[in-house]
Amino acid sequence: MDKMLLVDDEADVRYSFERIFGADVDLHTAGSGEEAIVAIPRVDPDLVIMDVRMSGLNGIETLQRIREFDTKLPVILMTAFGTTQTAIQAMKHGAYDYLLKPFDVPKLKEIVAGALKASREMKQKVSHEPLLESEDYDLGIIGRSPPMQDVFKTIGQLAGAEATALITGDSGTGKELVARAIYHHSDRADKPFLAVNCAAIPENLLESELFGHEKGAFTGANTQRIGKFEQCDGGTLFLDEIGDMTAPTQTKILRVLQSGAFERVGGNEPVQVDVRLIAATNKPLEEAVEAKEFREDLFYRLNVVRVALPALRDRREDIPLLIDYFLRKYSHGALPALQPATMELLQNHEWPGNVRELENAIQHALVKAKGGALLPDTLPPEITATPATVETPHDDLPALAGKLFRWARANPERRVIPAVERELIINALKETSGNQVQAAKLLGITRATLRKRIEKFEIKRELSIG
Ligand SMILES: Nc1ncnc2c1ncn2[C@@H]1O[C@H](COP(=O)(O)OP(=O)(O)OP(=O)(O)O)[C@@H](O)[C@H]1O
Ligand SMILES: [Mg+2]
Repeated sequence: MDKMLLVDDEADVRYSFERIFGADVDLHTAGSGEEAIVAIPRVDPDLVIMDVRMSGLNGIETLQRIREFDTKLPVILMTAFGTTQTAIQAMKHGAYDYLLKPFDVPKLKEIVAGALKASREMKQKVSHEPLLESEDYDLGIIGRSPPMQDVFKTIGQLAGAEATALITGDSGTGKELVARAIYHHSDRADKPFLAVNCAAIPENLLESELFGHEKGAFTGANTQRIGKFEQCDGGTLFLDEIGDMTAPTQTKILRVLQSGAFERVGGNEPVQVDVRLIAATNKPLEEAVEAKEFREDLFYRLNVVRVALPALRDRREDIPLLIDYFLRKYSHGALPALQPATMELLQNHEWPGNVRELENAIQHALVKAKGGALLPDTLPPEITATPATVETPHDDLPALAGKLFRWARANPERRVIPAVERELIINALKETSGNQVQAAKLLGITRATLRKRIEKFEIKRELSIG
């Protein structure tokens, strides 16, 4: 369970935190900044939430003292209205975020969840060697196939350098994992790592999220805000889904990369930062450049070193290793046995969702197996489905429909939809030797519908089944 240290001299606040977070976090408390400094090494919290105004050391002084021995621990500061200026100072001293009192509970929960995630990401080391038994690493990048060997080599080269990296690969291939591995092996490993998913933030808010804004910069900008670049000064910023940025944001990123300088939105005073950027995308950026949606100069600046992650179907020899890894990760106690038929299905699946899909499939199977052997029917349906359903050429369907339509135009008397429907049903029934349940499943219709169509089209007589 995540450990949270609440630093506040008011008992009321402690009670409300206990009520809000209850059994979800392991809540520790300290009554003053001095107490917090002693408590942190002992408690080893994942997150500190601290009031700014306290007798003795105030929140900002305490934060500065914490930063002398821990540069990464996320600290959220709480402040009453009217003292946001102080909180902004605190952000510059490396606070993770700040909250205004009285709390908006959903907002509080959201910020705490974000900080705990950031904390985990900074703490969990990512190995770039497939060390299953290693105690040192909580997470591994598994793979021995030649394309993964190349990935490991590049991670190693990047780790000792300060170069910007561009990670590419389809969804679920491990881009985020690789970004974290680069960070953990870099000279900045003891500095913060922050991740921003550009696609998850509305376009018009992304620039302010990254670069901050001045008070009054736009409607709703009631206070100054410090952006991720400034917050991450000295550390590593991971920009995920980099293809989703407006032109002005791209221009600003290019400038930070070139000179380390930017202005907050609505501001004209340059801010200087030292941030290492790691970017990732699952869209072909070259095409976006071609279409003039992505700045070419920014693309080249990001693409200094490229880590291209292979699709799982292109490194099938790693599938057994990954299965073993996820079984160890998610099964408690004895490792369950995997039936050869189950293994064969896993080995032959297309894996459109790549490693994430495989990870989910193993978790699914473990739940379904309830401690027994992993039989094929413990796998998610899209993996056990017969090739006939899997190989449906979705992409060719419009082409096929086009052909059918031309045929229909030439033979209007045949009434194309019923005719096609009838043929499909006959095929499905032949394939399943007349098993209506299976045939309906193959066709994606209910059994009742299938039965009605069989009547309507008088199929039984033709196949002499039933
Ligand atoms: N080589 C690997 N070894 C072990 N686990 C992996 C590997 N690659 C990916 N994973 C796991 O698969 C899941 C998806 O990985 P990750 O989030 O890094 O993918 P992604 O490329 O960022 O995907 P998306 O484009 O959808 O954001 C994570 O749980 C990750 O730990
Ligand atoms: Mg990702």
